[in-house]
Amino acid sequence: MNYKAPRGTVDVLPTESGKWLKLERILRTIADNYNVKEMRTPIFEHTELFNRAVGDTTDVVTKEMYSFNDKKGRSITLRPEGTAGIARAYVENKMYAWPEKLTKVYYMGPMFRYERPQSGRQRQFHQFGVEMLGVESPYVDVECMLMALTVVKALDIKDVTLHINSLGDDASREAYRTALKDHFRPHLHELCEDCNDRFEKNPLRILDCKVDHEHPSMASAPKTIDYLSEGAKAHFDKVCQLLDELDVDYVIDTNLVRGLDYYSHTVFELISDDPKLGAGSTVGGGGRYNGLVEEVGGPATPGVGFAFGMERLMLAMDDDMTDDAGIDAYIMPLGDEAKDYAMQLITVLRAHGFCCDMDFVGRGLKGQFKSSDRFHAQYALIIGEDEVKNEIVQVRDNETKEQEAVKVEELITYLDHKMGV
Ligand code: HAM
Repeated sequence: MNYKAPRGTVDVLPTESGKWLKLERILRTIADNYNVKEMRTPIFEHTELFNRAVGDTTDVVTKEMYSFNDKKGRSITLRPEGTAGIARAYVENKMYAWPEKLTKVYYMGPMFRYERPQSGRQRQFHQFGVEMLGVESPYVDVECMLMALTVVKALDIKDVTLHINSLGDDASREAYRTALKDHFRPHLHELCEDCNDRFEKNPLRILDCKVDHEHPSMASAPKTIDYLSEGAKAHFDKVCQLLDELDVDYVIDTNLVRGLDYYSHTVFELISDDPKLGAGSTVGGGGRYNGLVEEVGGPATPGVGFAFGMERLMLAMDDDMTDDAGIDAYIMPLGDEAKDYAMQLITVLRAHGFCCDMDFVGRGLKGQFKSSDRFHAQYALIIGEDEVKNEIVQVRDNETKEQEAVKVEELITYLDHKMGV
């Protein structure tokens, strides 16, 4: 039997994990920079949470969730996104009562969506997400956008455009919903069954339809921005004004509605034309969700956030961005006696804090030098019969190729000195 990883999942091999670690380190540094703390929520939640929060007419909920019954018959879902879990935990842990009114958190981890896999799209993928809960101010919307832009800048992702739009508050969305229904009503018989269903339950979702997206009624559909209430318009205008003052480039994309139901007011996406991703690829997106916390049982609490697909960030990053710095020393024993000696030595070196490895294969000098190169070892420590007898080690600087015989008892001092410790 040949086992294969399930479709849409990938193995991160040791040759690639250095790049992942680098990405994670950059993201954590940016989070520190913005005073955003990490929060970890479960990878699975009760299915009902996502139906509620993400919305039971969205594609994510109707088509893409990995749901199953546990042994007690409860419906459980592998999280398709992170915001719902954060909102649930925020309420459950009464974080709304914490002294600091604005809670700023981030998360990094696997998400699951049953989608057709392609480059940058998987069934198990990873998100870096940020949520800022508790304050309704447009300044916080901009704080999120700035942080998202800092990420693409730090990773040197090319040709990124910030797209923004506003869905407005409840009153705006109600007016828009009526306008959308009036617009689509005469076309209903030409639209798919799902769209007919969406028409009754949630007409906004007609705009995400993958079947009818080229139907002429889509392009001529009313725009959310034309139905904003006075308050919603003032909020959006302030966001735009702040971005202008900060010299942040953006486009107002009136077609941007996002595929999850919890959004209100500002929504945004970072779209890259970097050839490594393919033109028009969305690396991240987010927006405000002022109704979500209440929807999942908490007190009315505004929120705003965003998430990046980490696989997409990885694709766009240069391969030489890696945390795989190489080791300090590779120990090369020649012969059985030397191996015993090497094992003693490596233990002492590691205890001193050096990153080391040694040959466990029993190869000749040539083969061992190849490993030393592959591991990017700074020093090769060669131990043959004579070295064992005379209690010395041949220390080869792999960069300068200079080699010196060093007394074993002086080795640590010698390496410390060479490495400038
Ligand atoms: P989303 O737009 O559904 O938003 O996902 C955010 C990002 O996750 C996407 O822009 C994309 O880069 C990545 N992504 C989504 N699906 C996949 C997939 N199948 N394979 C690889 N990458 C994928 C959310 O999830 C919201 N929770 C974001 C948010 C946070 N809004 C407010 N706070």
